[in-house]
Amino acid sequence: MLNLQLTDKLALRERARQNVDNGAVTEGYSADREEVIRLLNESLATELVCTLRYKRHYFMATGLKASVAADEFLEHAQQEAEHADRLAERIVQLGGEPEFNPDKLSALSHAEYKAGKNLKEMVYEDLVAERIAIDSYREIVQYIGDKDPTTRRIFEDILAQEEEHADDMADILKDLP
Ligand SMILES: [Fe+2]
Ligand SMILES: [Fe+2]
Repeated sequence: MLNLQLTDKLALRERARQNVDNGAVTEGYSADREEVIRLLNESLATELVCTLRYKRHYFMATGLKASVAADEFLEHAQQEAEHADRLAERIVQLGGEPEFNPDKLSALSHAEYKAGKNLKEMVYEDLVAERIAIDSYREIVQYIGDKDPTTRRIFEDILAQEEEHADDMADILKDLP
């Protein structure tokens, strides 16, 4: 294997001092920063919409005494909120502004907010939303490639958890009459 030739130390040190105002974004950042921020904001909106949908489903399922589904809905709501936080944090690191304006969220979101009329519909809509998130995050990971490893890793971590969520919903759906 070839040795990795790092940029020489003097150049690295000099470069780090340029545009210090850009914080974590260095001269070596090779992704399209505006585009990555746009994708992060769409994903943030997706996570926020998914948090709200799972919250609604949690409270509705609790009313229906569907405790297994309710437990899953609540856990997913909490994890979607954590995903939202990680994305918002990354947007700020990249010098962008996270969009939290509720008037804009459903238009930005990849997945839809579907209330669902009964437990089966709720689980079905959650499974659909997870599948949308899985496909969009996989595409984003491929788009980023090796140009922004940190953002890519965040999306990979979230993607893995969305796959677990989809699996959970598929399992519950199978057991519903
Ligand atoms: Fe999520
Ligand atoms: Fe999810």
